[in-house]
Order: sequence, then C-alpha cells, then structure tokens
Amino acid sequence: MSEQDKNVKLSDNERLKRESNFLRGTIEQDLKDEITGGFTADNFQLIRFHGMYQQDDRDIRGERAKQKLEPLHNVMLRARMPGGIIKPEQWLAIDKFADEKTSYGSIRLTTRQTFQFHGVLKPNIKGMHQMLNSVGIDSIATAGDVNRNVLCTTNPVESELHQEAYEWAAKISEHLLPKTKAYAEIWLNGEKAETTEEPILGSNYLPRKFKTTVTIPPNNEVDVHANDLNFVAIAEAGKLVGFNVLVGGGLAMTHGDTATYPRKADDFGFITLEDTLKIAEHVVSVQRDWGNRSNRKNAKTKYTLDRVGSDVFKAEVEARSGVKFAPSRPFEFTHRGDRIGWVEGIDGKHHLTLFIQSGRILDYPDKPLKTGCRKIAEVHQGDMRMTANQNLIIAGVPADQKAVIEEIARNHGLIDDKDTEQRKNSMACVALPTCPLAMAEAERYLPSLVEKTEALLAKHGIPDDSIIMRVVGCPNGCGRAMLAEAGLVGKGPGKYNVYLGGNLEGTRIPKLYLENVGEDVYLDAFDKLIGQWASERNDGECFGDFVIRKGIVAEVKVSVTDFHA
Ligand code: HEM
Ligand code: SF4
Repeated sequence: MSEQDKNVKLSDNERLKRESNFLRGTIEQDLKDEITGGFTADNFQLIRFHGMYQQDDRDIRGERAKQKLEPLHNVMLRARMPGGIIKPEQWLAIDKFADEKTSYGSIRLTTRQTFQFHGVLKPNIKGMHQMLNSVGIDSIATAGDVNRNVLCTTNPVESELHQEAYEWAAKISEHLLPKTKAYAEIWLNGEKAETTEEPILGSNYLPRKFKTTVTIPPNNEVDVHANDLNFVAIAEAGKLVGFNVLVGGGLAMTHGDTATYPRKADDFGFITLEDTLKIAEHVVSVQRDWGNRSNRKNAKTKYTLDRVGSDVFKAEVEARSGVKFAPSRPFEFTHRGDRIGWVEGIDGKHHLTLFIQSGRILDYPDKPLKTGCRKIAEVHQGDMRMTANQNLIIAGVPADQKAVIEEIARNHGLIDDKDTEQRKNSMACVALPTCPLAMAEAERYLPSLVEKTEALLAKHGIPDDSIIMRVVGCPNGCGRAMLAEAGLVGKGPGKYNVYLGGNLEGTRIPKLYLENVGEDVYLDAFDKLIGQWASERNDGECFGDFVIRKGIVAEVKVSVTDFHA
C-alpha cells in the first residue's frame, strides 16, 4: 500500500475486490436468480473482470419504466484477442452466436482490436462463454482493474516482424493475466480450485484499468499515447531486437474536473527482448503499489507518474526488475490510418483491409456486411485481423484466392469505392443506446457528421483531403477523441465540446476550442476553418498542424500544465 493510501479512505471498489474471493463474488448465485435479469451488488462490477458489462437499451428504458418493468438488463461481452487476430472458424462461431443469441445481432469491432457482442440476456451468458471456449477464445480481464487486451500493430506487410511482435503481445497478455480460476469455475463449469495469491496483480488487483500495446513504427495505429504501457518495436534488418518502453499515456478525463486530463506516455528507454516480461511485470507492480486507490479519477498510471515523477517511477521499475533502461533508440511515427484495400506482404501473401464504419458488422439493407464477412470466413484459409481503427483485415490470401475474396467483399458492400478519405479517417465510440455513460450520440451520429464534413471539404475545393475526426459520447475517451485533429466530446444531448490540434502521427493532444455547442455552431466553425486551411496551408500541412501554426488553439506540450490553461 502506498504512503498516501494509509491515511485516506479507500474507494469502495477496493473493498469489493478484496471481498470478492479472487473475483468470484456471488456471481454463480446471481446466475440462478430468475427474478431479475441483472447482476446484484458487487457482482455488477465483478463481471467486468470476466469481460462483461451490464447494460440496458437506453432507447426503451423510459417506456419500460412506464410499464413498471425493470430495465431490460443484458450484458455486453468483450473478448480477449491479443493483436486482434481471429481465425475464420472462430469468426463463423461468433457470427452464428451474434445472430442467434444477441438482441442487436451485430459484431462490433473495437478500438482495442477485439469484438463485442451487445445484448446478451442472462440465460445465454454461460452458453456464450462455453461457445467461445470451444473455439479457443476467452474474455478474461478485458475490463476491470487489470491489464486488458494487449494490442499489436496489424502490419501485414512486414510479415516476419509482425509475427514476432504479435507473439510478444500474446506472451505479455498471458503473463499479466489474473491467475484466479474464477472464470473457468463460473462460466466453464471448471473444478473449484482455491486461489491463494495473485503474484503480479496482487489480491486487490490494480488501482484502475491498465492498457498495453506492442507497436511497430512508423505505424501508430494503436495510439501509444492512449495506453499505460507500450513496447515500441526496434528492428535491425527486419528482425526485432528489442523495444523502447513508453509509459503513462491515457485519455480519459471528467468534464469540469481540472485534476483530470489526457496525457502522453513518457519514453523510459530501450530494453532487449529477454527483459520484456520483467519490465511488463514491474511497470505493473509499481503502478499496483503506488497508484491512487482512494480516488478512481486519479488512479491511472498517468497520474501516478505526474504525482511521484516519471524518473522516480522509472528508477523503481529498474530496481524491482534488475533491468537498466538503455538510451531510447530512434524511431518515428508517420501515420495511424489503415491502408484500405489490398497490399502484398514481403512473404508474397496478399492482405485485404476492409473499411468498417465504426466497426459495426451488421446486415444493413443496402450493405449486408455481416453476411459478406461470413462468406469470406467460409472460404478464407489465412487469418482475420481486427485493427485498432475498427477495421477488418483478411490476411494471408494466396494470389489465386484474391479474386474470389474480392468478389464477395464487393457484392456485400465491404468494398465501396465511394468511401472518402474523410469517412475512413473518422471514428466514434459506441455511446447510445447501450453505453450507460453516454451523454450524447457518437456511433449513430458519425455517418451524418461525416457527410456534412465531406460537403465542407468539397465546398472549399479539397474533396480528397481529410481530417482525423473522432466523436465520443462522454469524456472517457473510448473512441480516442483526445488524439484526433478534431475531437467531439459529448456534453449533453446534441451538445459537444470541440477539441482541435492533434496530428496525423498521434503525438499531440488537442485543445478545447468550443464548449458545449450544438451542430449549428461547430459546423459553422468547421466551415470557416476548413476554408482557411484550404487556402492558407503550407505544402502537405495537416489540419491539426495548421490550427496550431495559426494560433487558433494553443499547443498542448505538457498536459498537466497546458491542457486546461
Ligand atoms: C473512465 C474511463 C472509461 C470508462 C468508464 C469506460 C467505459 C466504457 C464502457 C461502459 C464501454 C461500453 C460501451 C458499449 O459497448 O456499449 C466502453 C467501450 C470501450 N472503451 Fe471505454 N471507458 C473508459 C475509457 C476508455 C479509454 C480511455 C479507452 C481507450 C483509449 C477505452 C476504450 C474502449 C473501447 C475500445 C471500447 C469498445 C467500443 C469502441 O470501440 O468504441 N475506454 N468503455
Ligand atoms: S466514450 Fe463514454 S460514451 Fe463512449 S463508449 Fe466510452 S464510456 Fe461510453
């Protein structure tokens, strides 16, 4: 326990973790309770450590209340898929489950390279975990105060390097997983096995969620600055030799609370491959012991670094791991977007990246995306990869299969030549109707915002240009708006705070430009700014760089001092 924790009241989440008998709680009893469709008391929180959030459809909440019915409780499930790789046979299994057993019938690809089911009712939860287990998937630790799904750049071009990096993502994920057998016991009818300790996470688990990536520059698709711990691959002659370790990124904040802010990760230095797991373990252990356990709004690694000092945190990681960080090796990020369409890997295999708006795979009347993905999975022999931009890669296609796969994709709207760069560079979190924290629309609003932005770009004569634009329903940051060139953060129904000034590489936090405004106000502002950008920009200057050069917003260099200034 840290010094500060000895004197202050711990948050209630600390009690419930401590009393949970290593994440078991009374979840099994709740499962048998047919009176309510939900989970009660602590179990409502504990199921998160097993990869589920209890939700209800907010669109019908009022109507049900009028009929004196409890909200229609269901769960959202988030799988653990390090590096986002999923095999076609696994895809077919989740496709079937989404159709038959979820109320929304969709597969949602997320910005953490995994998929979510929305709307699973209590009687179907156990069956869902057993179905997943039968195809080698689990959902352990994809939510809650633990290390979550480990991301890895989905770089299909440098095949060998990707394979090595991916293997590290999988190893780190395994190494940092909770050791409790609660998941197998509860959901898979596993034998009861007493858990006596959690050697890495501790019996109270972490103070807050913890996020890790393995990143292959120059592509920053995973957005390192949104993550607590990043292993940035350093390669020599195409072979991985080690990692630069970046610690303490994170995007969440709370409206009106200036003690909260998005923050970039600090570069601790270079390590060789053999030290990877030791460093992963001890960045986690220092945050476990030093993180704030009384105020959850200041509990993430980024706040621990700012409170104790980045150097002090780093020295403690060195002391505990016995590894000294070497000076950082040079690396550069140049972009974050996915290359939509076909690319050929250096191993001669072909990879098709499909653009999926907001990652929502569903059969729309004019675009049967879900059927298309299923048909591809039925014939595809390589693997499929979910990207951190919510897109899907059909990877490892031999030359003679290209035409078949492309035809299916085109016939089902998975390739649409009309998709503009603006559409491909726009992103939204889930928000309404399922997310209980949403203050405004995000995913459902994105298509219309994109159309209006496209119209403005066309009006100013730059229809092929684009702005990295991201919309989130609240300031928690799930759609990574706090690394966008233009980020809209929900404030209330139809109202957003508008932040400007991120860059293409994802290495700058944007700054507040308009507060609590409706569409009429910010579209008018975008109209003027896009007009100015079109006529006054330097060669190749992106929108985010332009607004900073022109002094339209100030640059956020150090979050703790600049973000709220
Ligand atoms: C206090 C902070 C946060 C809270 C309480 C929170 C809570 C939630 C909830 C309730 C959902 C489920 C929405 C749904 O599917 O209906 C969600 C989705 C998600 N969150 Fe967060 N979140 C937080 C911060 C973040 C941050 C900072 C990131 C990443 C940088 C993130 C990544 C995600 C992802 C990837 C999803 C899945 C949906 C998507 O792709 O947008 N979350 N979050
Ligand atoms: S950003 Fe807010 S509204 Fe959007 S999914 Fe996350 S918690 Fe929900």
